Amino acid sequence: MGSLNNGRKKFEKLKAGSDISIGGALDILRSNLNAKDERPTIPLGHGDPSPFSCFRTTHVADDALSNAVKSAKFNSYAPVGGILPARRAVAEYLSRDLPYTLSADDVCLTSGCRQAIEVIISVLSYPGANILIPKPGYPHYDACASANNLEIRHFDLIPERAWEIDLEAVEDLADENTVAIVVINPGNPCGNVYSYEHLKKVAETAKRLRIPVIADEVYGHLTFGSNPFVPMGVFGSTVPVLTLGSISKRWLVPGWRLGWLVITDPKGYLKEAEVVGSVKQYLNMSNNPASVIQGAIPQILENTKEDFFENTICLLRQALDICAEEIKEIACITLLQKPEGSMFVMVKLDTSLLEDISDDMDFCIKLAREEKVIILPGIVLGLKNWLRITFSIDLPSLKDAMERIKSFCQRHAKPQILKLDGRLTSEGGYLPGSNLQSLEFHESSKLGVKSKTFES
Ligand SMILES: Cc1ncc(COP(=O)(O)O)c(C=O)c1O
Repeated sequence: MGSLNNGRKKFEKLKAGSDISIGGALDILRSNLNAKDERPTIPLGHGDPSPFSCFRTTHVADDALSNAVKSAKFNSYAPVGGILPARRAVAEYLSRDLPYTLSADDVCLTSGCRQAIEVIISVLSYPGANILIPKPGYPHYDACASANNLEIRHFDLIPERAWEIDLEAVEDLADENTVAIVVINPGNPCGNVYSYEHLKKVAETAKRLRIPVIADEVYGHLTFGSNPFVPMGVFGSTVPVLTLGSISKRWLVPGWRLGWLVITDPKGYLKEAEVVGSVKQYLNMSNNPASVIQGAIPQILENTKEDFFENTICLLRQALDICAEEIKEIACITLLQKPEGSMFVMVKLDTSLLEDISDDMDFCIKLAREEKVIILPGIVLGLKNWLRITFSIDLPSLKDAMERIKSFCQRHAKPQILKLDGRLTSEGGYLPGSNLQSLEFHESSKLGVKSKTFES
């Protein structure tokens, strides 16, 4: 009986991990779609633009993969950590943006960035240890930590400060059992792109705390705002960095499952701590990315033309602009910070302006049921009553989706809303102290309708 109980505990732990997954939430939302509604479902909850023809990968990648298959050189098992030319190509690719040169030995190839997360979290876990994870964040970190009995300590990202890391909180949270801090840049779900100065402060904080940085850069270079992408490895001489990435996002091929875990540690601290050896040992028990994609990766990284990347950025920027404009017209959701990277926008949901919506999950379920639009409830990412909208989709579908969200919000709005100087009140109430320079009355009594503005 004892062993059965232990088995159940393990199962519950894994179930807790899957409860907080994006995939789990999307399954719930999809199960609420109305099969009788003949309109197409518009998926804005995903992180995979590849099904949309405008986000097709480059022919360079297609050719590289088909050449690798036709060569018949990559039909065998690959060595643990990846074949040498592939590791060397990733080292060269990442070194382009670093003040030092990585070697093939610093690189382990993984099955997408997800496996890199799984490997590093398992390797760093020990009884009593804890890890610092951003909130909101990417829930796979939480799931892996929880499956490994690694205590999760969340630090906040601050929306009013471009989702920067609350570094004071980080200092308070850490102790002698903290094994690492996770930094996702460019960010999922917030679209943050951290400045050089902020990343420098992160590196200095981690150095003071004597912990490595796990730098999730799966959205590396997918930036379209004023901050350029700065890899955390730039600060590798200040603090050891474990860089995680993949070709999933920048090359728009998440199904090819080629990622990496790279030790960006020119001073060799992690070698001393035997992290490198443990990663290799872990990979020995685990799986490799398929040999053919390893065979293709040197050509993909070396030959992809700049215009392919520019086209993706241009599409993302256009899509974001549409999304941001439409959001302005929907009173119950607010965009505090326009994203500068990745493919998501986080908006704050004000349920007090809605009649029969209890929270973000309820909003998303009813939206799926009534409008066949899927967006992700913030609770899955650690922020209740926020929503994550993916804008990496073809523009006509995005416009259609935003119209459907708008009419959903109008239908569920509380009646008689008066908008005073950007502040909203229900039942036509007056907000004391508000500046009446610009008064907005809604044309109908429902929220979300484009308002008339009366300048005084
Ligand atoms: C922040 C973050 N890290 C890692 C991953 C996983 O990437 P991959 O598809 O390469 O496994 C994702 C996927 O959406 C992500 O958003």
